[in-house]
Amino acid sequence: MKLPPLPSGWKLFGLLTVLTLAMTTLILAAQPLGADGLRSTIRATARSSFALFLLTFLASSLAILLPGDTTRRLLRERRYLGLAFAFSHTVHGMLIYRYSQQFPALFWAGRTLTSSLPGSFGYLFILLLTLTSFKAPMRLLGSRAWKQLHSVGTWVIALVFCLSFYKRIPMGAWYVLAFSTMFAAIALKLTAKLALRVRRAAVAFAS
Ligand code: HEM
Repeated sequence: MKLPPLPSGWKLFGLLTVLTLAMTTLILAAQPLGADGLRSTIRATARSSFALFLLTFLASSLAILLPGDTTRRLLRERRYLGLAFAFSHTVHGMLIYRYSQQFPALFWAGRTLTSSLPGSFGYLFILLLTLTSFKAPMRLLGSRAWKQLHSVGTWVIALVFCLSFYKRIPMGAWYVLAFSTMFAAIALKLTAKLALRVRRAAVAFAS
């Protein structure tokens, strides 16, 4: 199958950041500047981050389970998709900051420092993963520690998405769908890990 000429590498990253900013501007411009507008944009950036995170999270699993041009390409672009996720979530964070400053009573309604801990922990890992996505810090860290950090970090972020959707399930059907999607993605990742282990064991047994 011939793949469409989509941008790759930094061009792909650039395109995704422009799309994230355009979406944010459009949603902000479409409604009066107030708490509801800000919250819509916070939700929209959480959703763009979720889509980008899913592609990053599943790239290697899809390449294992469904080898082919598309999944190989997805795997090649994983770093740029991950950085685009970090960008989208930085916008999520900046909007949350603005919301908390402009509407502190609304922001803190039903929220405590403790309930904000998982999300804040998620941000700590997004920062660490982003900083170590460049050659110099990668070399400094060493391949083993880098792999461990990126594995732990992506699982932490996956769990924060699970939790964020799960606690909103009473608010509507979208959250059931989003939570199930994240849950299915986790199951797919674990299946791919198992498949790889079985494949390696079969190769070791045959040689
Ligand atoms: C890795 C960290 C985080 C992730 C993965 C995350 C994810 C999400 C998700 C999935 C949503 C719901 C989107 C939807 O409605 O479909 C959301 C909304 C929101 N998040 Fe985050 N979040 C993170 C960090 C934080 C932090 C640290 C705060 C504040 C302390 C925060 C505040 C909010 C607010 C105010 C909303 C909008 C609530 C509403 O209007 O319903 N988030 N986030």
